[in-house]
Amino acid sequence: MFDPQEFMEEMVPDIRSTIKGKAIIACSGGVDSTVAAVMVSQAIGDRLLTVYVDTGMMRKGETKTVDKMLSRLKVNHKIVDASEEFFDALKGVVDPESKRKVIGERFIRVFEREAKQFHADYLVQGTIAPDWIESGDDTRDTIKSHHNVGGLPKDVQLRLVEPLRDLYKDEVRKLARHLGIEVSERQPFPGPALAIRIMGPVTREDAEIVREACAIVEEELERAAEQGKMVLPWQYFAILLPVQSVGVHGDNRVYGKTIAIRAVQSIDGMSAAYSKVPHEVLELISVRITNEMKRNVNRVVYDITNKPPATIEWE
Ligand code: XMP
Repeated sequence: MFDPQEFMEEMVPDIRSTIKGKAIIACSGGVDSTVAAVMVSQAIGDRLLTVYVDTGMMRKGETKTVDKMLSRLKVNHKIVDASEEFFDALKGVVDPESKRKVIGERFIRVFEREAKQFHADYLVQGTIAPDWIESGDDTRDTIKSHHNVGGLPKDVQLRLVEPLRDLYKDEVRKLARHLGIEVSERQPFPGPALAIRIMGPVTREDAEIVREACAIVEEELERAAEQGKMVLPWQYFAILLPVQSVGVHGDNRVYGKTIAIRAVQSIDGMSAAYSKVPHEVLELISVRITNEMKRNVNRVVYDITNKPPATIEWE
């Protein structure tokens, strides 16, 4: 039986004796990286810098929430607003895989810069057992390539510290609760974030639109599930389509943008069935999006495709 107290008593002195100089960790606000940051912070205090990179493509309110949480947990942290850089790098990039590559590379650049400025000698990562078991090392085949394993270039001269390496998700959750970290049971969210929910080139304006639409979808589906109108889907969000259509604004014909709603049931994301969201809930979402975003969006559609043949995300 995993005992978080015992684990901390064993690991904290161990981390303290391993990390001689300064260390840095990238924290997304997810449970693994937050637990790793809090643990190492308890061991070495302000010799750890926790960096949260705001790419401009985060969910609504996310940056503030993470900032507050890290402050409350007394973790020495820095919120880096790198949105300008990310939007610049993504200018004109349309291909989904290129978007992922550009975002990954840019993230490493920003993080490396912070590591240098802080004179970090160690890199802390919240890698947990399934990450490296599935990603494989020299002797294993790669099943899936995970972003946080081998995500940094070989020439980064930082020594790797992975305090959660032997833990499984339920153990990390136990540890999180023990450390006073709110464990959210939030739906999965892709690393490239809202960039892959904007079909076509990414702009700050479109990121704002899809961020707002995603927030409305989340709010309304969570409310409907709480009220017992439906089961909360496994994943649910909005996508901004590169399609404009005719609408009416007062007496005028206008061209507006189109939002697609995606909600699916799934076990592990490998296959998925579209959620049978009640029409009254879909209508609420549609009315809210077209009212609150009437300057930009005048049409909302619902994606009724399973995976396969579609994927969950549109890119
Ligand atoms: P798809 O769209 O392939 O998604 O059916 C399956 C699950 O993976 C998430 N996803 C990603 N997660 N980086 C991530 O960290 C990515 O590039 C990425 N692409 C898709 C998706 O949100 C879903 O939960």
